[in-house]
Amino acid sequence: MIVIANSEGHPGIGLSAERLQQGHNGLRAIVEGIKLVELDPSVRTVGYGGWPNVLGEMELDASVMDGDSLRTGAVGALQGFLHPVEVAYRVMEDLNHEILVGAGAARFAAEIGALAGDNLIADSKRVWWEKLEQAMSAEQRRDWPNIPLAGLSNNATDPERVRDTTVFLAQDGGGTLSAATSTSGWAWKYPGRLGDSPIIGSGSYADSRYGACACTHTGEMTIRCGTSRAVVLYMKMGMTLDQAVYEAIEDLNYLKDGYTEGVTIHAVDKQGNHKVVSLNCPGPIQYWLWQTGMAAPELRDAEIITTR
Ligand code: GLY
Repeated sequence: MIVIANSEGHPGIGLSAERLQQGHNGLRAIVEGIKLVELDPSVRTVGYGGWPNVLGEMELDASVMDGDSLRTGAVGALQGFLHPVEVAYRVMEDLNHEILVGAGAARFAAEIGALAGDNLIADSKRVWWEKLEQAMSAEQRRDWPNIPLAGLSNNATDPERVRDTTVFLAQDGGGTLSAATSTSGWAWKYPGRLGDSPIIGSGSYADSRYGACACTHTGEMTIRCGTSRAVVLYMKMGMTLDQAVYEAIEDLNYLKDGYTEGVTIHAVDKQGNHKVVSLNCPGPIQYWLWQTGMAAPELRDAEIITTR
């Protein structure tokens, strides 16, 4: 058995490991772990305490994937609910669809009795408005919010700093591989922007026959490369876990614009090996690991590949 999570996963990795040891299904184990991350306001890129869009609204993305059935569930730009990952799980369980966004996702969340709540904490609101005010001209401040948002969304934030997510991967005692993600996405994003976290194949993918993968940092990059599906497909085509991850890093490195710096690939294979590699990250990147035989989850350093 194994569970890995990016560093933001610290509030939940222990619970996920415990649930695996108790014999729970791996996907439920990581959903329960992510729910603790979503509730923790010290994690500034996920759920309660995350960053809002340019209008100051919290729009959350999340996904789940069961590697046995290849069923998935995802929500995008969900407003007003505290556990987008649980709503994503219910999309998978209750609907014939794989993804719901916006008002439809919120309607479904209300229908299933999902826990409602305001994810915007006072500090996020204060920082959001301060940065926005600095980025706006006097004219824009006068007319706010009835102004074009595109330029503001591009300028109001440092895109290298305020985008992340939480990702969890597990292989349970039955050998089932699963993946789950949750995020508030790119801070000060244009309303309706989806990152990679709800896009199966980009932000995550799991197939119990081969492996599972999930990515952090700028989702636009892994959407362009289909990174998570690529890693699993490379393994299907015969590559080892290491070869598959390096090949996907090559794919990302081909991109000539955007923000590839810091994109991090987390992957496991069906034998329970794992690999975490970050591309051109200026600082250290860490992740959580628990596997059979460990007394508690351990924080490990990811491999950094520097190409420029
Ligand atoms: N990887 C999270 C996002 O881009 O929203």
